[in-house]
Amino acid sequence: MTSSGEVMVRAEGLRKSYGTVEAVRGVSLEVDRGQVVVVIGPSGCGKSTFLRCINLLEEPSAGTLQVGDRRIDFSARNSMPHGRDLARFRARIGMVFQQFDLFPHMTALQNVMCGPVIVKKMPKPEAETVARDLLAKVGLAAFTDRFPRNLSGGQQQRVAIARAMAMAPEIMLFDEVTSALDPELVGEVLDVMKQLATDGTTMIVVTHEMAFARDVADHVLVMDAGQVVEQGRAEEVLLRPKNPRTASFLSRFHSTIGERQA
Ligand SMILES: Nc1ncnc2c1ncn2[C@@H]1O[C@H](COP(=O)(O)OP(=O)(O)OP(=O)(O)O)[C@@H](O)[C@H]1O
Ligand SMILES: [Mg+2]
Repeated sequence: MTSSGEVMVRAEGLRKSYGTVEAVRGVSLEVDRGQVVVVIGPSGCGKSTFLRCINLLEEPSAGTLQVGDRRIDFSARNSMPHGRDLARFRARIGMVFQQFDLFPHMTALQNVMCGPVIVKKMPKPEAETVARDLLAKVGLAAFTDRFPRNLSGGQQQRVAIARAMAMAPEIMLFDEVTSALDPELVGEVLDVMKQLATDGTTMIVVTHEMAFARDVADHVLVMDAGQVVEQGRAEEVLLRPKNPRTASFLSRFHSTIGERQA
Protein backbone atom coordinates (compact mmCIF):
# COMPACT_ATOMS: atom_id res chain seq x y z
CA MET A 1 0.00 0.00 0.00
CA THR A 2 3.04 2.21 -0.09
CA SER A 3 4.32 3.81 -3.22
CA SER A 4 7.94 4.20 -4.21
CA GLY A 5 7.24 6.70 -6.98
CA GLU A 6 8.40 4.29 -9.68
CA VAL A 7 5.76 4.23 -12.42
CA MET A 8 4.56 0.70 -13.23
CA VAL A 9 1.66 1.62 -15.51
CA ARG A 10 0.97 4.85 -17.31
CA ALA A 11 -2.06 5.09 -19.59
CA GLU A 12 -2.54 8.34 -21.46
CA GLY A 13 -5.69 9.11 -23.43
CA LEU A 14 -6.46 5.45 -23.87
CA ARG A 15 -9.41 4.74 -26.18
CA LYS A 16 -11.19 1.61 -27.31
CA SER A 17 -14.12 1.39 -29.71
CA TYR A 18 -16.16 -1.61 -30.72
CA GLY A 19 -17.63 -0.52 -34.04
CA THR A 20 -19.59 2.60 -33.19
CA VAL A 21 -19.55 1.94 -29.42
CA GLU A 22 -16.84 3.96 -27.69
CA ALA A 23 -16.28 1.83 -24.58
CA VAL A 24 -13.21 3.74 -23.34
CA ARG A 25 -12.94 7.41 -24.33
CA GLY A 26 -9.58 8.80 -23.34
CA VAL A 27 -8.66 7.35 -19.94
CA SER A 28 -5.41 8.36 -18.25
CA LEU A 29 -4.01 6.74 -15.13
CA GLU A 30 -0.62 6.43 -13.50
CA VAL A 31 0.12 3.61 -11.08
CA ASP A 32 3.29 3.59 -9.00
CA ARG A 33 5.00 0.46 -7.72
CA GLY A 34 3.17 -0.87 -4.68
CA GLN A 35 0.08 1.24 -5.26
CA VAL A 36 -3.46 -0.14 -5.11
CA VAL A 37 -5.85 1.56 -7.51
CA VAL A 38 -9.57 0.79 -7.33
CA VAL A 39 -11.72 1.50 -10.39
CA ILE A 40 -15.43 2.06 -9.82
CA GLY A 41 -18.40 3.16 -11.88
CA PRO A 42 -21.78 2.00 -13.15
CA SER A 43 -22.30 -1.10 -15.28
CA GLY A 44 -21.19 -0.64 -18.87
CA CYS A 45 -19.00 2.40 -18.14
CA GLY A 46 -15.90 0.68 -19.57
CA LYS A 47 -14.08 -0.67 -16.49
CA SER A 48 -13.46 -4.14 -17.90
CA THR A 49 -12.52 -2.78 -21.31
CA PHE A 50 -9.98 -0.45 -19.69
CA LEU A 51 -8.37 -3.34 -17.74
CA ARG A 52 -8.36 -5.54 -20.85
CA CYS A 53 -6.60 -2.74 -22.74
CA ILE A 54 -3.86 -2.65 -20.11
CA ASN A 55 -2.84 -6.25 -20.69
CA LEU A 56 -3.65 -6.00 -24.40
CA LEU A 57 -6.47 -8.51 -24.38
CA GLU A 58 -8.04 -5.65 -26.34
CA GLU A 59 -6.09 -3.52 -28.78
CA PRO A 60 -6.61 0.13 -27.82
CA SER A 61 -7.74 2.35 -30.70
CA ALA A 62 -5.66 5.34 -29.56
CA GLY A 63 -3.55 6.67 -26.73
CA THR A 64 -0.35 5.46 -25.17
CA LEU A 65 0.32 2.73 -22.66
CA GLN A 66 3.47 2.13 -20.67
CA VAL A 67 3.97 -0.95 -18.53
CA GLY A 68 7.34 -1.06 -16.82
CA ASP A 69 9.85 0.27 -19.34
CA ARG A 70 7.79 -0.72 -22.41
CA ARG A 71 5.77 2.11 -23.96
CA ILE A 72 3.34 1.72 -26.86
CA ASP A 73 1.80 4.56 -28.85
CA PHE A 74 -1.40 3.23 -30.42
CA SER A 75 -1.76 6.14 -32.79
CA ALA A 76 1.34 4.91 -34.61
CA ARG A 77 0.82 2.34 -37.36
CA ASN A 78 1.43 -1.31 -36.49
CA SER A 79 2.03 -0.42 -32.86
CA MET A 80 0.33 -3.48 -31.42
CA PRO A 81 2.94 -6.02 -30.29
CA HIS A 82 2.72 -9.53 -31.74
CA GLY A 83 4.09 -12.97 -31.02
CA ARG A 84 6.89 -13.10 -28.49
CA ASP A 85 6.82 -9.34 -27.97
CA LEU A 86 3.14 -9.54 -26.98
CA ALA A 87 3.82 -12.57 -24.75
CA ARG A 88 6.64 -10.69 -23.02
CA PHE A 89 4.40 -7.66 -22.47
CA ARG A 90 1.60 -9.80 -21.03
CA ALA A 91 4.00 -11.72 -18.79
CA ARG A 92 4.45 -8.54 -16.78
CA ILE A 93 0.76 -8.48 -15.94
CA GLY A 94 -1.38 -10.94 -13.98
CA MET A 95 -5.14 -10.86 -14.37
CA VAL A 96 -7.96 -12.49 -12.43
CA PHE A 97 -11.52 -12.42 -13.73
CA GLN A 98 -15.00 -12.77 -12.27
CA GLN A 99 -15.25 -16.32 -13.64
CA PHE A 100 -12.38 -18.29 -12.13
CA ASP A 101 -11.24 -19.96 -15.30
CA LEU A 102 -9.13 -22.76 -13.85
CA PHE A 103 -8.16 -25.73 -16.00
CA PRO A 104 -10.74 -28.33 -14.90
CA HIS A 105 -8.54 -31.37 -15.60
CA MET A 106 -5.67 -30.08 -13.44
CA THR A 107 -5.34 -30.04 -9.65
CA ALA A 108 -4.92 -26.77 -7.79
CA LEU A 109 -1.16 -27.39 -7.71
CA GLN A 110 -0.97 -28.17 -11.44
CA ASN A 111 -3.06 -25.08 -12.24
CA VAL A 112 -0.58 -22.86 -10.36
CA MET A 113 2.54 -24.64 -11.69
CA CYS A 114 1.63 -24.75 -15.36
CA GLY A 115 2.37 -21.10 -16.23
CA PRO A 116 5.92 -21.06 -14.89
CA VAL A 117 6.67 -24.51 -16.43
CA ILE A 118 5.17 -23.91 -19.86
CA VAL A 119 5.74 -20.20 -20.40
CA LYS A 120 8.84 -19.54 -18.31
CA LYS A 121 10.39 -23.03 -18.81
CA MET A 122 10.94 -23.25 -15.06
CA PRO A 123 12.11 -26.72 -13.92
CA LYS A 124 9.16 -28.63 -12.42
CA PRO A 125 10.56 -29.05 -8.88
CA GLU A 126 11.21 -25.31 -8.67
CA ALA A 127 7.75 -24.48 -10.05
CA GLU A 128 6.21 -26.86 -7.52
CA THR A 129 7.95 -25.05 -4.66
CA VAL A 130 6.71 -21.70 -5.97
CA ALA A 131 3.18 -23.08 -6.39
CA ARG A 132 3.05 -24.70 -2.93
CA ASP A 133 4.25 -21.46 -1.32
CA LEU A 134 1.61 -19.45 -3.14
CA LEU A 135 -1.18 -21.90 -2.35
CA ALA A 136 -0.14 -21.74 1.32
CA LYS A 137 -0.21 -17.96 1.12
CA VAL A 138 -3.81 -17.98 -0.13
CA GLY A 139 -4.75 -20.42 2.63
CA LEU A 140 -4.96 -23.55 0.50
CA ALA A 141 -1.98 -25.62 1.65
CA ALA A 142 -4.32 -28.50 2.43
CA PHE A 143 -6.08 -28.37 -0.96
CA THR A 144 -3.19 -28.65 -3.42
CA ASP A 145 -4.36 -31.98 -4.90
CA ARG A 146 -8.03 -31.04 -5.30
CA PHE A 147 -9.53 -30.55 -8.72
CA PRO A 148 -11.47 -27.30 -9.29
CA ARG A 149 -14.84 -29.12 -9.23
CA ASN A 150 -14.10 -30.17 -5.65
CA LEU A 151 -13.32 -26.65 -4.46
CA SER A 152 -15.74 -23.90 -3.42
CA GLY A 153 -16.01 -20.77 -5.54
CA GLY A 154 -13.93 -18.82 -3.04
CA GLN A 155 -11.27 -21.51 -3.03
CA GLN A 156 -11.21 -21.65 -6.83
CA GLN A 157 -10.82 -17.88 -6.97
CA ARG A 158 -7.91 -18.08 -4.52
CA VAL A 159 -6.26 -20.71 -6.75
CA ALA A 160 -6.79 -18.35 -9.70
CA ILE A 161 -5.03 -15.57 -7.76
CA ALA A 162 -2.14 -17.92 -6.87
CA ARG A 163 -1.93 -18.97 -10.52
CA ALA A 164 -1.61 -15.38 -11.68
CA MET A 165 0.97 -14.60 -8.97
CA ALA A 166 3.05 -17.66 -9.98
CA MET A 167 4.19 -15.78 -13.08
CA ALA A 168 5.72 -13.14 -10.76
CA PRO A 169 3.88 -10.31 -12.51
CA GLU A 170 4.88 -6.69 -11.99
CA ILE A 171 1.24 -5.73 -11.67
CA MET A 172 -2.00 -7.58 -10.91
CA LEU A 173 -5.37 -6.70 -12.45
CA PHE A 174 -8.59 -7.87 -10.75
CA ASP A 175 -11.94 -7.58 -12.54
CA GLU A 176 -14.85 -8.02 -10.11
CA VAL A 177 -13.29 -11.20 -8.76
CA THR A 178 -15.82 -11.55 -5.95
CA SER A 179 -18.98 -10.75 -7.92
CA ALA A 180 -19.82 -14.35 -8.82
CA LEU A 181 -19.26 -15.66 -5.28
CA ASP A 182 -21.83 -16.51 -2.63
CA PRO A 183 -21.76 -13.67 -0.08
CA GLU A 184 -20.19 -15.82 2.64
CA LEU A 185 -17.19 -16.56 0.37
CA VAL A 186 -16.41 -12.96 -0.58
CA GLY A 187 -14.43 -12.19 2.59
CA GLU A 188 -11.84 -14.94 2.15
CA VAL A 189 -10.96 -13.68 -1.34
CA LEU A 190 -10.84 -10.02 -0.25
CA ASP A 191 -8.57 -11.05 2.62
CA VAL A 192 -6.11 -12.60 0.15
CA MET A 193 -6.18 -9.41 -1.92
CA LYS A 194 -5.60 -7.31 1.21
CA GLN A 195 -2.59 -9.47 2.04
CA LEU A 196 -1.17 -8.98 -1.47
CA ALA A 197 -1.63 -5.22 -1.06
CA THR A 198 0.14 -5.30 2.31
CA ASP A 199 2.99 -7.27 0.71
CA GLY A 200 3.48 -4.41 -1.76
CA THR A 201 1.84 -5.90 -4.86
CA THR A 202 0.93 -3.25 -7.44
CA MET A 203 -2.77 -3.73 -8.18
CA ILE A 204 -5.60 -2.30 -10.25
CA VAL A 205 -8.89 -3.57 -8.88
CA VAL A 206 -12.36 -3.20 -10.39
CA THR A 207 -14.80 -3.85 -7.58
CA HIS A 208 -18.12 -2.93 -6.02
CA GLU A 209 -16.74 -3.77 -2.57
CA MET A 210 -16.58 -0.22 -1.21
CA ALA A 211 -15.35 -1.19 2.23
CA PHE A 212 -12.40 -2.93 0.55
CA ALA A 213 -11.79 0.17 -1.57
CA ARG A 214 -11.87 2.40 1.50
CA ASP A 215 -9.55 0.16 3.53
CA VAL A 216 -7.06 -0.93 0.86
CA ALA A 217 -6.99 1.51 -2.06
CA ASP A 218 -4.48 4.33 -2.31
CA HIS A 219 -6.14 5.81 -5.35
CA VAL A 220 -9.69 5.60 -6.71
CA LEU A 221 -10.63 6.14 -10.34
CA VAL A 222 -14.30 6.79 -11.10
CA MET A 223 -15.52 6.08 -14.64
CA ASP A 224 -18.78 6.94 -16.33
CA ALA A 225 -19.66 6.42 -20.00
CA GLY A 226 -16.08 5.52 -20.93
CA GLN A 227 -14.48 8.53 -19.28
CA VAL A 228 -12.83 9.36 -15.98
CA VAL A 229 -15.18 11.59 -14.02
CA GLU A 230 -12.97 11.84 -10.97
CA GLN A 231 -9.81 10.34 -9.51
CA GLY A 232 -7.68 10.92 -6.48
CA ARG A 233 -6.78 9.69 -3.02
CA ALA A 234 -9.19 6.98 -1.90
CA GLU A 235 -10.52 8.80 1.20
CA GLU A 236 -11.05 12.00 -0.76
CA VAL A 237 -12.96 10.38 -3.60
CA LEU A 238 -14.98 7.96 -1.49
CA LEU A 239 -15.84 10.25 1.41
CA ARG A 240 -15.77 13.70 -0.20
CA PRO A 241 -16.54 13.21 -3.90
CA LYS A 242 -16.36 16.40 -5.93
CA ASN A 243 -18.25 15.22 -8.98
CA PRO A 244 -22.05 14.82 -8.73
CA ARG A 245 -21.89 11.62 -10.79
CA THR A 246 -19.43 10.12 -8.29
CA ALA A 247 -21.65 11.19 -5.41
CA SER A 248 -24.71 9.68 -7.10
CA PHE A 249 -22.89 6.39 -7.77
CA LEU A 250 -21.52 6.21 -4.23
CA SER A 251 -24.89 6.99 -2.64
CA ARG A 252 -25.86 3.36 -3.37
CA PHE A 253 -23.07 2.19 -1.10
CA HIS A 254 -23.13 4.70 1.72
CA SER A 255 -23.78 2.27 4.53
CA THR A 256 -20.74 0.21 3.42
CA ILE A 257 -18.36 3.14 3.15
CA GLY A 258 -19.41 4.68 6.44
CA GLU A 259 -18.90 1.63 8.68
CA ARG A 260 -15.30 0.96 9.68
CA GLN A 261 -14.48 -2.70 9.39
CA ALA A 262 -13.42 -4.47 12.55
N1 LIG B 1 -16.66 -7.20 -27.25
C1 LIG B 1 -17.50 -6.16 -27.27
N2 LIG B 1 -18.16 -5.82 -28.39
C2 LIG B 1 -18.99 -4.76 -28.43
N3 LIG B 1 -19.24 -3.96 -27.38
C3 LIG B 1 -18.63 -4.26 -26.23
C4 LIG B 1 -17.73 -5.36 -26.09
N4 LIG B 1 -17.27 -5.39 -24.83
C5 LIG B 1 -17.86 -4.36 -24.21
N5 LIG B 1 -18.66 -3.68 -25.03
C6 LIG B 1 -19.43 -2.45 -24.69
O1 LIG B 1 -18.51 -1.51 -24.17
C7 LIG B 1 -19.07 -0.82 -23.07
C8 LIG B 1 -18.22 -1.00 -21.84
O2 LIG B 1 -18.27 -2.36 -21.42
P1 LIG B 1 -17.44 -2.89 -20.19
O3 LIG B 1 -17.65 -4.37 -20.15
O4 LIG B 1 -16.05 -2.43 -20.29
O5 LIG B 1 -18.17 -2.19 -18.97
P2 LIG B 1 -17.99 -2.43 -17.40
O6 LIG B 1 -17.83 -1.10 -16.77
O7 LIG B 1 -16.96 -3.45 -17.15
O8 LIG B 1 -19.44 -2.99 -17.00
P3 LIG B 1 -19.85 -4.04 -15.82
O9 LIG B 1 -19.80 -3.27 -14.53
O10 LIG B 1 -21.24 -4.44 -16.19
O11 LIG B 1 -18.88 -5.18 -15.88
C9 LIG B 1 -20.50 -1.34 -22.93
O12 LIG B 1 -21.35 -0.49 -23.62
C10 LIG B 1 -20.44 -2.70 -23.60
O13 LIG B 1 -21.69 -3.07 -24.10
MG1 LIG C 1 -16.97 -5.34 -16.27
